[in-house]
Amino acid sequence: MAGSGRTTVRFAPAGGLKGSLRLPADKSISHRAAIIASVCDGPVRIVNFLDAADTRATLAAVQACGVSVDKGTDGVLRVGGAGLRGLKQPEAPIDVGNSGTTIRLLPGVLAGQRGRFILDGDESIRRRPMDRVVEPLRRMGVDVEARGDRYAPLTVSGGDVRHIDYHMPVASAQVKSAILLAGLYADGPTSVSEPVQCRDHTEIMLANAGARIEREGLRTVVHPVEALHLEQLEVAADFSSAAFLLVAASIVPGSEVKLPGVGLNPTRTGLLDILLEMGAHITRENERFLSGEPVADLTVRTAELRGVSVNGSISGRAIDELPLLALAGAFAEGRTEVSGAGELRVKESDRIAGLVANMKAVGADIEARRDGFVVRGGTGIDGGEFAAAGDHRMAMLGAIAGLASRSGVSVSGFESVSVSFPGFDGAVSSLLERGAGK
Ligand code: S3P
Repeated sequence: MAGSGRTTVRFAPAGGLKGSLRLPADKSISHRAAIIASVCDGPVRIVNFLDAADTRATLAAVQACGVSVDKGTDGVLRVGGAGLRGLKQPEAPIDVGNSGTTIRLLPGVLAGQRGRFILDGDESIRRRPMDRVVEPLRRMGVDVEARGDRYAPLTVSGGDVRHIDYHMPVASAQVKSAILLAGLYADGPTSVSEPVQCRDHTEIMLANAGARIEREGLRTVVHPVEALHLEQLEVAADFSSAAFLLVAASIVPGSEVKLPGVGLNPTRTGLLDILLEMGAHITRENERFLSGEPVADLTVRTAELRGVSVNGSISGRAIDELPLLALAGAFAEGRTEVSGAGELRVKESDRIAGLVANMKAVGADIEARRDGFVVRGGTGIDGGEFAAAGDHRMAMLGAIAGLASRSGVSVSGFESVSVSFPGFDGAVSSLLERGAGK
């Protein structure tokens, strides 16, 4: 353990990752399942709901609004839908913890409720911009207050909702989702246009629940509904969690890893396309659909990678995975450049500043740019110290950097992996040959 109760875990160079790994359920889909189920008519069964800190925060939030949540002995979650306008004003402020998706999506459904709902979160949440949801919801006539008009806590007083045609200034699936959810309660069809394609899980789930959703290019229209109905939903494994293994197995020599049942919604798989362009060996089999979402089994083998240049147009489809390119790039021949990804600076942490400082500390030749970074690769990394700084994705990146390094990486603040991938270190250890690893 390092100072102030934070856990430091060391990841030693690995001699190849081998085997099959069942990854945790998709975080984005799990959040949406809990929120949308809470306003359905009647109970909704959610199979393979992600059990992690972020999604627990969403469940606790809907419970605080009077929704029943039970996990059966079969592991299936049952959310007792309270009906479209059935959420109750909680007694205390809702604590979303570290979860940006909870605090940005919930106001969408709260817009149509009677009552006053206060949403707050941890230090990281209080630093992240919330005006991006406050502003469009106000345009929809929703009474939303924010600290300094920009930050949490947010107070949403629901009521009547006006339909709007909104052009999002930032590429954000969370903002798009909040507007679409509020649009369910509006007095006419609401449209949202996004600057680049972002994840569309909300659209898929709402359509499955009976909402009328129309899409044309980057414009999505939602029509107001009388009621939503969903009996059962099954959540695929999270591509964003798979991404760490795709990169780790690509760069640790002698690896071959199978990842069954991974969600491959094309609005999420930008990193897969980028890795394939870099020369990665990744195959998909057994392609199928799970609750309207494309899923397949992936196999990844070690490969010689080439540097790549990635710009803003793919960032919406790879935003959470782009930092992994700093590590893949260090092992790739030539230069790897990411631009048009300024949004990385307002995630759970500033993922450009933190990434570059960490990657430099482990020996990478990397420079920060305002909206991305540049890595000169081919040399791999030595090893050293990596600071998660309260960011789950930075913790997991440090871990796989250690496996691929020459001398090992110690990751401080490793406990933050519980936000999306509890048990990450055990899962990775199960793929290591005896004697290697932590
Ligand atoms: C998410 C959208 C993305 C992503 C986040 C999850 C979602 O955020 O970074 O981890 O579930 O909608 P933005 O909407 O801020 O791009």
